[in-house]
Amino acid sequence: MTRDEFRLQPFDPAWKQSWKEGVAQFTPRPLLVYATLPLTNPPFRDSDDVRIVRASDQKELTECFHAAFADSFEYCDYSPGKIRGEAKKNIAEYFGGQRGEPLDASRVTLDRTSNRPTGAALFTGFDAHVAKLEMLFVHPKRQRTGLATRLVAGSLHSLAKAGYQTLLSTFMLGNQTSRRWHQRFGFNEEPDLQLATLHLKRLHSMRFLQQHASSAAPAEEALLGTSIRHWETEVTRLESALAQGRDTDAYAWMRFRIFSDRPA
Ligand SMILES: CC(C)(COP(=O)(O)OP(=O)(O)OC[C@H]1O[C@@H](n2cnc3c(N)ncnc32)[C@H](O)[C@@H]1OP(=O)(O)O)[C@@H](O)C(=O)NCCC(=O)NCCS
Repeated sequence: MTRDEFRLQPFDPAWKQSWKEGVAQFTPRPLLVYATLPLTNPPFRDSDDVRIVRASDQKELTECFHAAFADSFEYCDYSPGKIRGEAKKNIAEYFGGQRGEPLDASRVTLDRTSNRPTGAALFTGFDAHVAKLEMLFVHPKRQRTGLATRLVAGSLHSLAKAGYQTLLSTFMLGNQTSRRWHQRFGFNEEPDLQLATLHLKRLHSMRFLQQHASSAAPAEEALLGTSIRHWETEVTRLESALAQGRDTDAYAWMRFRIFSDRPA
C-alpha cells in the first residue's frame, strides 16, 4: 500500500494504524469504554430458564465463555490455545474472588432441554454503592435471542435490594457487539478524554475523506459538522478539567480505578 493509499484509509479508533515502507499495520487498541446504569427502583423480573450462579457451574461457564469470546475483538490476536487459557483464568478468577467479591445477583441462563448453562451475567461488588458487571457472555448458538438482556434485567432488582445505586460495566472499544448491547440496554458511556479525542479524530478523518471524494450531500456535511463541533466542545471541556488538576473528571479509568485492559 502506498503512503497516499494509506492516508485514504478511514480512521477507526479501535485499531492502531501505522504505515512503514509500503506496509500498513493495524493492531487492536486495548482501550476500555466505561459505562454506567443507575439502579433506580428496577422491577423484579424472573424467568424459568434463569437461575443464580452456583460454584458447580465453573466448568460449563468456562466452555461457554470460550465459545462466546473465541471470535471476539478482545482475543483477535490470541492463538486458540491462549484463548482457552484466558477462558479458564477469567472464570477461575471470578469464582476465586480475585476480581472482587462475587455477588448473589449473578445469573446463568439454562438450555431448556439439557439444563446446561448457555450464558451468564457475573457481578462483583466494586464499592459500597457500585456493582460491576464483571462478565457477560452468551453462547454463539443462542445469541440475539434476548438472553443477555434477560440475564442482566433479571439481576437489577437484586443489586438494588443489596444497596447498590449504580451498575458499572466495561468493554473494549473495538467490541461493537458489546457496545451496541450496552447502548440498547440503557447504559451511558462515561466521559473520557482519550475516547473523546479518538472519536473526534474519526470524525475529522470522515470529513477529510468526504472532501477528497467530493461525495457528501450538503445535509451529510452539515450533520458531520455538527458532530465535530459537539466533540470539539467535549474535548475542550475535558482538557480544561485536566489542566485544572481534575484528572478524575477527564479520565473514566481514574474515576473507577480499574487497570485491567482485558475483558469483559
Ligand atoms: C454481547 C452479548 C453478551 C449479547 O448477548 P445477546 O444475548 O446476543 O444479546 P441480546 O439478544 O440481549 O441483544 C439485545 C440487543 O443488543 C444489540 N445487539 C446484540 N448483539 C448484537 C450484534 N451482534 N450486532 C448488533 N447489535 C447487537 C441489539 O440491539 C439487540 O437487540 P435486537 O436483537 O432486538 O436488535 C453476546 O453477543 C456475547 O456473548 N458476545 C461475546 C462476548 C462479549 O463480547 N461479551 C461482552 C463483553 S463486555
